[in-house]
Amino acid sequence: MSNSNNFMALSEAEIQVLASIEEALSNGIIASRKMLEERSDRYWVFKEDWTNAFIGLEGRNLISGNDRGYELTDIGRPLAKDYYSERPDLYWYFYQKFYHLAESSKAHSRFSEIVFGEDRFQEGQVDMKCFDDLLFRLQLKPDQHLLDLGCGAGGLSEYVFDKQGSSVTGIDYSEFAIRTACKRAKHKQQKLHFLQADLNALSLPRNTFDAAISIDSIYGVSDMDKTISSIVETIKPGGQICILVVHRIKEERDISFPESRNTRVATSLDNLKLRYDIVDYSDLFLDFWPRARAAAVSLRDEYVSEGAELICDLWIREADEDFLPGTEAGAIRRYLYQIYVD
Ligand SMILES: C[S@@+](CC[C@H](N)C(=O)[O-])C[C@H]1O[C@@H](n2cnc3c(N)ncnc32)[C@H](O)[C@@H]1O
Repeated sequence: MSNSNNFMALSEAEIQVLASIEEALSNGIIASRKMLEERSDRYWVFKEDWTNAFIGLEGRNLISGNDRGYELTDIGRPLAKDYYSERPDLYWYFYQKFYHLAESSKAHSRFSEIVFGEDRFQEGQVDMKCFDDLLFRLQLKPDQHLLDLGCGAGGLSEYVFDKQGSSVTGIDYSEFAIRTACKRAKHKQQKLHFLQADLNALSLPRNTFDAAISIDSIYGVSDMDKTISSIVETIKPGGQICILVVHRIKEERDISFPESRNTRVATSLDNLKLRYDIVDYSDLFLDFWPRARAAAVSLRDEYVSEGAELICDLWIREADEDFLPGTEAGAIRRYLYQIYVD
């Protein structure tokens, strides 16, 4: 986040409104109050009471206009862009809570065993079958060093060390995730390291890692070309990068390409003239989501008794509103990009 917030303490509601105006305007939508409220469901349970936020932002000269349409002022625009890039939807808020809740939740441990095949503190949508396949492709050696981008609480980083003996450095922008990862790995410190860092502003040493993985963590970056080039710079020549993503097929798309080349990641890889292979894991994904929903529903009472229902409720919401209908209709695809660094 930029320093601009240091001198302007905004309330959470004001931040949400500012980011929402940026979201609407950057999508070419008139930022009327009605429209902003209608689109505010993307904050889900994290939405604050916006009643006084508009007046507050106007008073600080960050927005202008009225309920029929708001604009960002010259002072408000960069701040709004920063906030929108940092917290484009409910997930930033979710990650502030998830790792804390998951750390002590027995229900979530059980959920992970059922859904992922092992409790490795995962938060993405990769089960161990899929992850083992990805590791098989990377062929990491014990004397090699992996960078895990968006590592969350570090469970998959630790799995790589346990299975392959390789060193792993995990990075994530969630402070709590990194704190949990460091605590969990304290007996493996020679080979497991965790750092708090933002994929939007990576500054890692060049030519350092033999490989990098990004498991469901790159979707939110503001400039994909910039993030991917900064990852490539950290990889030694001859190394590899595996990026696993979920992709929603858009109505307006280039049908002269296979769909796997229409993703934000593939577009950047092409822009950057990188060599890569694509693996389509969409079938595994079709299996994954019904299992995840059923487990979240069956364990809900246990989650509730632990005060951790936020976790299972998000799985159920995502399954019902998005992933189940989307995967079944073939509108959501799952791709791995295996990139070769020359
Ligand atoms: C869906 S979780 C996946 C976590 C882990 N890779 C896994 O598969 O269990 C996404 C992770 O990416 C992190 N993340 C999202 N955007 C990020 C960014 N810009 N910089 C660093 N980490 C980010 C989140 O904090 C979260 O831990």
